[in-house]
Amino acid sequence: MVPPRWWQTAVFYQIYPRSFADGNGDGIGDFAGMTERLDYLQDLGIDAIWLSPHYPSPFLDCGYDIADYCAVGPEYGSLADFQTFLSAAHARGMHVILDLVLNHTSDQHPWFRASRTDRTNAYRDWYIWHDGAADGGPPNNWASLMGGSAWEWNSTTGQYYYHAFLKEQPDLNWRNPAVKAALWDAVRFWLDMGVDGFRLDAIATIYEDPSLPNHTAQIPPGDLLRRASSDLNDAQLETIRAYYADLQRYQRHQPGIHDLMRDLRALLDTYAGDRVLVGEEDDVAYHGNGDDELHLVFNFPLMHPRTLTPAHIRANQRDRLTALPPGAWPCNTLGNHDLSRVKTAFGDGVHDDALARLHAALLLTLKGTPFLYYGEEIGMTDYHFTNLDQVRDMLAVHQYSVLTETQGIPPGEALALALEMTRDRCRTPMQWSQAANAGFCPDGITPWLPVNPNAAFGVNVAHQVRQPDSMLSAYQRLLRLRRSLPALAYGAYTELLPDHAALLTFLRSDRASGQCCLVILNFSGEHQTIDITGIGEIQSILFADPQYDADVTKTTIDLAPYGVHIYALAPLSHT
Ligand code: GLC
Repeated sequence: MVPPRWWQTAVFYQIYPRSFADGNGDGIGDFAGMTERLDYLQDLGIDAIWLSPHYPSPFLDCGYDIADYCAVGPEYGSLADFQTFLSAAHARGMHVILDLVLNHTSDQHPWFRASRTDRTNAYRDWYIWHDGAADGGPPNNWASLMGGSAWEWNSTTGQYYYHAFLKEQPDLNWRNPAVKAALWDAVRFWLDMGVDGFRLDAIATIYEDPSLPNHTAQIPPGDLLRRASSDLNDAQLETIRAYYADLQRYQRHQPGIHDLMRDLRALLDTYAGDRVLVGEEDDVAYHGNGDDELHLVFNFPLMHPRTLTPAHIRANQRDRLTALPPGAWPCNTLGNHDLSRVKTAFGDGVHDDALARLHAALLLTLKGTPFLYYGEEIGMTDYHFTNLDQVRDMLAVHQYSVLTETQGIPPGEALALALEMTRDRCRTPMQWSQAANAGFCPDGITPWLPVNPNAAFGVNVAHQVRQPDSMLSAYQRLLRLRRSLPALAYGAYTELLPDHAALLTFLRSDRASGQCCLVILNFSGEHQTIDITGIGEIQSILFADPQYDADVTKTTIDLAPYGVHIYALAPLSHT
């Protein structure tokens, strides 16, 4: 059997550099801070780190607006600090991948500053410029994913430029070979330095239909935000559905994208050391033939429902695992820097701790590379902002003006929607201790985003590291288990009890070693009993509810509400 590649058995941990650890005491996370915390990640059992953007940026989209692809944002330190971090991670056996934003640059990038000066300059064709429509308005009715028109007028040159996201994030013109050459140079710059790969931002939006067809459904831009709200009527929902269908048709997944991904993969494959590409995409087509485009593509549909149920997860695994092309490997996550934190998103307000523990067990026992988001391991929750002055995410600020100015939504309602939407809610500083500023930065310094007050009430590393039944301890145990058992890290997935409403039950088995794990997760608030006669003979209990009576001879298993049981079965007794 072919041995697994490192990125198949690894558990990835996403660090948001600004929020992880402040080494120089200015209230902003940096490489010095991250380097100091590598021991923590190693003890936790993390194998690989995905760094959200660390590049120089005016920070209107929290770093996803890059002004220089081959440098480090000064607030995070120097290139030498980055190299120290990278070597320190490698010395601990951890891999590091970077965020690569190919779709757009910042409007402060020298390429765009040149491009917008006149129509004949060398960088003009690096971005997507168009004449206005006959009436002088934008070339078509496309909306930006951040709200408002996707076209911005440039009076100096008398043309519009296209931006799928903020107007300060002009889209690059990937049909211009010079763009590809420049970005591939940036890719080489980091690969030469030793990084282990990239998470590719917003790849589906890289090309758009050059004939610029209008959307049939024109929805007021603010409705993109309001789709989150539950009070939309059927007609509004239908318009939004039609809008998204057009978005897919004209602005996403356009011809050329798979050639581009193959090209990037070929570049990566010229490097030794098994570098990896992870796509911010859920379409398995981005795996190409299974070995010629991206190595990993997120299974976002897993996290789509408001409540995770065994029926949804089973269906998701069935669909996902059968849709993957031969050779491709799955990749699961429940949260990231754009979404509510796992504990908030999937909590019910009453059993949040138990649910968070259950969801951790789910992510760390499913087949596929798991991606954790910093702070999940201590059960960090969303921060509730009460005013826009504290918010740094321009998406929320921009949407507030769209809602109030162009849609006449009353300020109070618009504010509530914008605050509900702001992605800063999940980007607050890592909670290291219950000291001032949660130990993220020194007392007396204002951190770049507020610290969640629950840091003082046990949601911090220093407290949980001493508690055997803490969330952190549960993560640590699960991570160790996954690392020590090929069946969990790499084994086949076999669904059991396909109709059970409350229990998700499956096997993970490794043919080479004959090892087989039985995973039983109770998604209900009631005790559940399951008879495992016929499934296999229990050899040992690997993980169980705290007060569980550890009798391996039992064939009837009782699970506490939201209980997690993982067993080793006698070798291949399941076959
Ligand atoms: C991706 C990022 C998101 C960003 C957007 C534009 O979706 O995850 O944070 O705003 O791309 O770069």
